[in-house]
Amino acid sequence: MNNDLPELGEFPENWKRMHLLGLEELTREELLILLDKAQVFRNAFDEGRRKFSFLSGHTSVTLFFENSTRTRTSFALAAQRLGASSVAFTASTSSLSKGESVVDTAKNLEAMGCESMIVRHSTPGIPQLLTEHVKCSIINAGDGAHEHPTQGLLDILTMRQRLGNLEGKTVGVVGDIAHSRVARSNAWGLKKLGANVIMCGPATLVSRRWEELGVEFSHCLDDILPRVDVLNMLRIQFERQYTSPFPSIAEYSFLYGMNRDRLRAAKENLLIIAPGPINRGVELTPEVADGPQSAILDQVSNGLAVRMAVMWLTDGARTRIQCL
Ligand code: NCD
Repeated sequence: MNNDLPELGEFPENWKRMHLLGLEELTREELLILLDKAQVFRNAFDEGRRKFSFLSGHTSVTLFFENSTRTRTSFALAAQRLGASSVAFTASTSSLSKGESVVDTAKNLEAMGCESMIVRHSTPGIPQLLTEHVKCSIINAGDGAHEHPTQGLLDILTMRQRLGNLEGKTVGVVGDIAHSRVARSNAWGLKKLGANVIMCGPATLVSRRWEELGVEFSHCLDDILPRVDVLNMLRIQFERQYTSPFPSIAEYSFLYGMNRDRLRAAKENLLIIAPGPINRGVELTPEVADGPQSAILDQVSNGLAVRMAVMWLTDGARTRIQCL
């Protein structure tokens, strides 16, 4: 039993993953285990129970080759709150600039002793590659436009808290779908829970191939607005684009920005979420971002709970696998 937090119960027998690389690979049951355990951590957080000793003596390294505010900080805090110590690796000041490879960097960090690595990289598949070279748990914190599983989980946890069962609910993901790992992790997770997903954005950023995955697509936010229960407003990933996907930011905002007028055309209790960072006045006006239907800061609190659950589960699986 977990005396620190009895509500967590016994370690779930059916959780066998020591890495978390994406939501695509998870079964519905595994997804529900993650969400349920994250909810336990969130409840404890709300009651002021924030410090545990599950990972006492462990070290977690955040290995980020791209910038981050929320993800990196909340993984570091999650490690500390589980009793582990967290060390930050910063690509720009490392020996990468002297030609050291990502795999060699990870092996060297592991040689100093660490139980988990939280990895963010602009190339899809780098977290998967590292699982073949190190023995610690690898948690994907965003790999290119592929997946960002903990963001997908915290988005879904936030939706579940506000809407209950997501079966049959309709979620619109709006914006730069082509370059967004958040869109992909949302789609994989939400489909497993029976939600309808609509990817919405300019034709240059939303492909009809989404239909092959059972996901709708639309190029008109005003068309989908009356149908959606949730809108996940993505940032335009200018840093990943080689040519401009639309004529101007003003035009993008006019067609795809969420503002007070569009709120009036939507369902009364529409939930607005966004992974952050948000560009106020582009994808959301400030009154929407800070308004009563926005759960943007609540998502951040859920992010900490999700990351604690992920670290607790992957660490439990790692110790069980490595003891065999
Ligand atoms: C997202 C990311 O990095 O993929 N942000 C995040 O993790 N909170 C989305 C983004 O950068 O727009």
